[in-house]
Amino acid sequence: MNNSPIGIFDSGIGGITILNSIKRILPNENIIYLSDNLNSPYGNKSKKKIQKLSTKNTQFLIDHDCKLIVVACNTATTNSIKNLRSNFKIPFIGIEPAIKPAAIKTKSGIIGVLATKGTLSSHLFSYTISNYAKNINIIEQNAEGLVEIIEKGLFEGDEVEETLKKYLFPMVQKGIDHLVLGCTHYPLLIKTIKSLIPKNIKIIDSGKAVAKQTKKIIDKNSIKSNLNKVKYSFYCNGSPKSLNKILNNKFVINKI
Ligand code: DGL
Repeated sequence: MNNSPIGIFDSGIGGITILNSIKRILPNENIIYLSDNLNSPYGNKSKKKIQKLSTKNTQFLIDHDCKLIVVACNTATTNSIKNLRSNFKIPFIGIEPAIKPAAIKTKSGIIGVLATKGTLSSHLFSYTISNYAKNINIIEQNAEGLVEIIEKGLFEGDEVEETLKKYLFPMVQKGIDHLVLGCTHYPLLIKTIKSLIPKNIKIIDSGKAVAKQTKKIIDKNSIKSNLNKVKYSFYCNGSPKSLNKILNNKFVINKI
């Protein structure tokens, strides 16, 4: 059981940003990554549909012997983690926009959150705000179309820049001093994001926190691997092109 893999899923390549953080903090773990890119993006789908897809992804990873699942997608977590936890016995780690650390650190009292429609409209998102950021002015921005651009394998260039400008400039104008990247795809655009906003705006994502939480849950459940040689396996159900690009063609992508 201990040497069984960690399962990670996302609607596409965004979860690779989470996988990278997990690899660093848990170097002796096998990992299986599932990109449900045939159904990408999740952002505009109904809660019911997201729950259905998340259940299917979870079942796939459990069938591949995973001991724990990281839902490396804000949209899937905020709409389906409760459902997954009640339907499956293994531990789940989710990811949601890092509102709490931004709310603690903000000086202007104004925070920008870039995320999908599905995340911003979720109950979990409003719950987190009412618990940790009640007196903070949260500027929410649905980054419509951004996941699609990233899934095409575009991480910089005109299309990325123009789309980001449209979403970031109004937030900057409103005086944000923290920008929360509420989708695991967005850290892939960090270079362009940094070039577009003033340097004093702090960019926060949840990657490291999710990796730390994964380690904590593994330790708590005594399911740590002790492998010297680890294996990373990748699966996708759509085109493997962007996954190949982000992995520098270093791994075999299994098509399902
Ligand atoms: N990576 C997903 C997230 O963190 C992308 C959502 C989508 O597919 O729209 O929200």
